[in-house]
Amino acid sequence: MTDVMADPIYKTDALIAEDIDAYLETHQHKTMLRFITCGSVDDGKSTLIGRLLYDSKMIFEDQLAALEADSKKVGTQGQDIDFALLVDGLAAEREQGITIDVAYRFFNTEKRKFIVADTPGHEQYTRNMVTGASTADLAVILIDARKGVLVQTRRHSYLAHLIGIKNIVLAINKMDLVDYDQSVYDAILKDYTAFATSIGITAFTPIPISGFKGDNITGPSANTPWYKGPALIEHLENVEVNAATDADKPFRMAVQWVNRPNLDFRGFSGQIATGTVKLGDAIRILPSGKTSTVSRIVTLDGDLDVAVAGQSVTICLADEVDCSRGDVIAAADNPPQAADQFESTIVWMADEEMLPGRPYWLKIGTQTVTATVQQPKYQVNVNTMEHLAARTLDLNAIGVANLSTDKAISFEPYAQNRTLGGFILIDKITNATVAAGMLHFSLRRAQNVHWQPTDVSRESHAAMKNQKPAVLWFTGLSGAGKSTIANLVEKKLARMNRHTFLLDGDNVRHGLNKDLGFTDADRVENIRRVGEVAKLMTDAGLVVITAFISPFRSERDMVRQMMQPGEFVEVHIDTPLADAEARDVKGLYKKARSGELKNFTGIDSPYEPPHDPEIRIDTMAMTAEEAAELIVARLIP
Ligand code: ADX
Repeated sequence: MTDVMADPIYKTDALIAEDIDAYLETHQHKTMLRFITCGSVDDGKSTLIGRLLYDSKMIFEDQLAALEADSKKVGTQGQDIDFALLVDGLAAEREQGITIDVAYRFFNTEKRKFIVADTPGHEQYTRNMVTGASTADLAVILIDARKGVLVQTRRHSYLAHLIGIKNIVLAINKMDLVDYDQSVYDAILKDYTAFATSIGITAFTPIPISGFKGDNITGPSANTPWYKGPALIEHLENVEVNAATDADKPFRMAVQWVNRPNLDFRGFSGQIATGTVKLGDAIRILPSGKTSTVSRIVTLDGDLDVAVAGQSVTICLADEVDCSRGDVIAAADNPPQAADQFESTIVWMADEEMLPGRPYWLKIGTQTVTATVQQPKYQVNVNTMEHLAARTLDLNAIGVANLSTDKAISFEPYAQNRTLGGFILIDKITNATVAAGMLHFSLRRAQNVHWQPTDVSRESHAAMKNQKPAVLWFTGLSGAGKSTIANLVEKKLARMNRHTFLLDGDNVRHGLNKDLGFTDADRVENIRRVGEVAKLMTDAGLVVITAFISPFRSERDMVRQMMQPGEFVEVHIDTPLADAEARDVKGLYKKARSGELKNFTGIDSPYEPPHDPEIRIDTMAMTAEEAAELIVARLIP
């Protein structure tokens, strides 16, 4: 590294001085490798990243961009920065917690551009590691040669493998501190091989290094004559990236937007997820199944005859077929499947636990649908890979669960296609990303259970009863007066010859829902089932009255979505907590306050009042009788 003439960066500088266009040309056609480093500060991670940046002389992407913007200006390549200072800077950043999220760093060598995702290594940052790994082609797993394979080595390897990273580098670091002893390296290799095989990692590249001293980073080290493999940067420069292997798969592109600047041009833009597309290729649009052929492939750099995985393109079709954002354009004779029920692995990333049965937004490729997740089949202990029973998933937990979507989505198993098999879940109320996941396969029952059309329609059920079906959905604290008012409403409707049915929380919990308690997850399931029952009853033409605390907005909104427009009438029985507690008809508030009863609504379990209910009853301002009259008058004017 001291021989300036032998320094590749020096040569690059010379090239720039001679011919900026040639320089930019080589840079533009370089492939990009995205990788993640796994390990902790103790393993020497900051030192290693510092070493990579230092040895590549930190030719940053933004410098390159500046060069491109002003081709006369020759950038300051090969900055002379002090290695120790650089590492100190990286370590200090971490200590201050700046890199709690994923830090992405860019660097360049002669052959390739690199983006390295640097994530903290502790278990509480599992979600960050998953985020960083989700776009990576390769993972560098760091081991401290003095310590060997640790719990965190196993966790990081498991996560990298789970996320589908095919290239794993086992960087056995700090070799200088074990006197470059081959037997230490061999012992660690043997340990790791046994573990890797047990979790399904079939290949990895071990490299003995010293990030601090620079051994086997850019070239072979004289200190490890027994090691015959590549140096780290050499390996990073030559390893095959995902895009290359993805190019051999069947063609798929998720449509990001429809490009229609004028009446003469209509193209579908997106990034090719897998495969190759050529002019004249027959394609199929999903979910519609319509077919056409490719008439143009447009890019920012002009038209192409062929485009491959990883490229962003606009595809024009020979026919005026419908196609919009969220659709998938695929090879006509080999399209992906569509389904609405799946088995999946889910990495939970929110502070609030997962609620089985709650509707979340699910984003996959460019499609967005509503999804509900079932109770996990199991959770994985990320340190031992054991399968544990679980009712839900907490922050950083990883589990396997079935999920269903409200519409069929075009998908492929994650192992085959990260774009059409990887998804995120988003909370519908806060808009926060709460999970990342991978689809394994569609459930066979989803393909074999069809909707059975029946001849006596919901309209005829209602017509025979001479009424319009409706759901009067009462919500409010325990003791607010829901059951009392609901009961009066039903009596009044019965007197008016209406066909009604009252579903009451305490009663339903004696039968259909007797397996459910009062955790958030159980309440979500309670309301989901009641919603489904209420829906069946409206199909039967009934006016349904429900009296459940139903504390969460998400589930009340979910039930609203299940009904026909205008059918769902939300009735907030609004009683201040202090008053419900003062009444304490069932003595439950007293028990809750004394700690004898856990998860009691309003005390140690939340209640989310409706923002905009159809009817709000202020129980402090009117009697139950008056409230019932008001509700009936609103329903039947
Ligand atoms: S919900 O939250 O899932 O909608 P639901 O309306 O079915 O609740 O049941 C509430 C009734 O169960 C209350 O009226 C009360 O009688 C009883 N109950 C027992 N334990 C609790 C608790 N921890 N929180 C609220 N209600 C409880």
